[in-house]
Formats: sequence, structure tokens, C-alpha cells
Amino acid sequence: MRIAVLNGPNLNLLGQREPEVYGRTTLAEIEGMVREAARAHGAEIEWFQSNHEGALVDAVQALPGRADGALINAAALTHSSLALRDALLAVRVPFVELHLSNIFAREPERRHSMIADLALGMVTGFGAQSYLLALQALAGRLRAV
Ligand code: DQA
Repeated sequence: MRIAVLNGPNLNLLGQREPEVYGRTTLAEIEGMVREAARAHGAEIEWFQSNHEGALVDAVQALPGRADGALINAAALTHSSLALRDALLAVRVPFVELHLSNIFAREPERRHSMIADLALGMVTGFGAQSYLLALQALAGRLRAV
């Protein structure tokens, strides 16, 4: 089972960025946690982060043939990117949307996701743990197919 993890803008700053909202765990530490947990699921991880919308669109377009499913924290692009939505509509690769913070408990502009209705489901609000919960959910779903 191959799982791609796509991370959007500013997630490279985790650890120092608004720690009261996002916690103190760095993205590299989260990557390590996800890779370790993936082994237990017999899954291979392809890890990606970009601050650029087009690079994330390219990464989504490259999913077919490379990944059986994806975990996506699109960060701020979650709330704005029709291009990301269109790419996900085009490839139809199963994915779980995830967020460290609970986007529904934040400012109104964060309470809408452009991609949520395309996802298998969403994990939001559990900090770094959101990645592990999303991995568990996606791996379970992919195994069941
Ligand atoms: C985020 C939530 C988004 O609203 C925000 O723009 C982020 C991170 C999260 O993981 O909580 O950059 O996706």
C-alpha cells in the first residue's frame, strides 16, 4: 500500500509557528511519526510539502500510479483553492483531509473547506495526532477495498 502525504503552505514552519494553535512538534518529527506508524500498516509513505499552490496541484496530478491514497493537509489552500479541488476531482484518488487545529472552532473563513466533500473523511483538531488518526483511517479503508 502506497500513501502520499501532501502538506501545504507554512507547514514547514511547524514547531515555531503559532505553537498555541499548532503545537510544538515540527513537520520533520510528524513525518518520522507517520513513517513509523505506516510500517505497522505495511504502508510506504511518500512525503511532500510545498508553499506553492501549483506545486501541490502538480503533486495531486502525479498521484495516480504512484499512490493508492493520500493524506492531505492543504493548510490555507484548504479554504481557497479551486485549482486544488479541480486536481482532486480529476484524479479521483481516495484521500483523507486533515488539520492540526479544529478548523470549525476558528475564524469563519477557516470553517469552509474546498475539498472536504471530495474526501473519504476529515480529521481536524488533534494536533500532530491528526496525521496518525488520518493514516489509520485511510489504511483501514484501503485494506477494505
Ligand atoms: C491548518 C488549518 C488552516 O486553516 C491553516 O491555514 C493552516 C493549518 C491546520 O492544520 O490546522 O495552515 O490546515
